[in-house]
Amino acid sequence: MNANTTLAHVIEADAPVPLAEYVGRERDALRTALHKNGAVLLRGFAVGGAKGLDAVVRQFAGSAPLDYTERSSPRKPIHGHVYTSTEYPAGEEIFLHNENSYQAVWPRLLFFHCAQPPTTLGATPLADTRSIHDLIHPDVRAEFIRRKWLVVRNYSDALGLPWQEVFGTNSREAVEQQCARNGIAVEWLGPHRLRTKAVRDAVHRHPVTGDAVWFNHATVFHVSTLPAVVRHGLLEMCGEENLPSNTYYGDGAPIPGAVLDHLRDSYRSASTRFDYRKDDVVLVDNMLTAHGREPFTGPRVVAVAMAEPSSDLR
Ligand SMILES: [Fe+2]
Repeated sequence: MNANTTLAHVIEADAPVPLAEYVGRERDALRTALHKNGAVLLRGFAVGGAKGLDAVVRQFAGSAPLDYTERSSPRKPIHGHVYTSTEYPAGEEIFLHNENSYQAVWPRLLFFHCAQPPTTLGATPLADTRSIHDLIHPDVRAEFIRRKWLVVRNYSDALGLPWQEVFGTNSREAVEQQCARNGIAVEWLGPHRLRTKAVRDAVHRHPVTGDAVWFNHATVFHVSTLPAVVRHGLLEMCGEENLPSNTYYGDGAPIPGAVLDHLRDSYRSASTRFDYRKDDVVLVDNMLTAHGREPFTGPRVVAVAMAEPSSDLR
């Protein structure tokens, strides 16, 4: 099976027509392409910066971009709810993942806009979650379907993100209410320290295509997916129980190293990449396609917006 053939579907404009107009006109055809291919690359259009991307989201999704709640990485708003993509050291890879798949509710659509391409690498690699699902050994899948997976997160001023930033409030009570609504267990470890735990499904059904998709943060949030030097430093500094994030089987038992190697191999085998050009916009169906970030050199400005909360379907 060649998992790379369906990503990404490319539509190249003959002339720089405004992208928001185009997606408004071609919304139905783009939706069909998105469900088939998981992602669509739109190239050669006039985007109009972050404001233009906001308009693209409104035209395509029929609503404004979503706020970035229960966040796991630092991002800055550029315009409204259009953000910089994760601010993470340029020399490090961000492993393939599906946005906010550790949450009870996630965005179904992602929009990436390359405002400034990097000098080398810096692609947003994409991987078909239907292919990842099929590449994972049936016994490994069955284990995760039965036991689910657990995410443990620690928030502090010293390491990771402060809880106030993650939950967007200074009120402990508001955090507790937000967590109760979203199936998250809360443990206060001090005035500035919070630990949360949530058990989620590893495999989901896509609401439109009906496909089984590998949709979870069990791999990207696991400590063994971090670069060795970062992993050793963190474990030495805070110990496993206080890591900013880590994952387990849903019953709290560790996920064996060989299983994590197999999961990482499955993601990588299903992934494809392209070099960004200025004003490339990638539409991503977040449940059908995982994304990551290559390390890069030079300047790189990629804006991201999210839309269509999964809760709208329930
Ligand atoms: Fe992401």
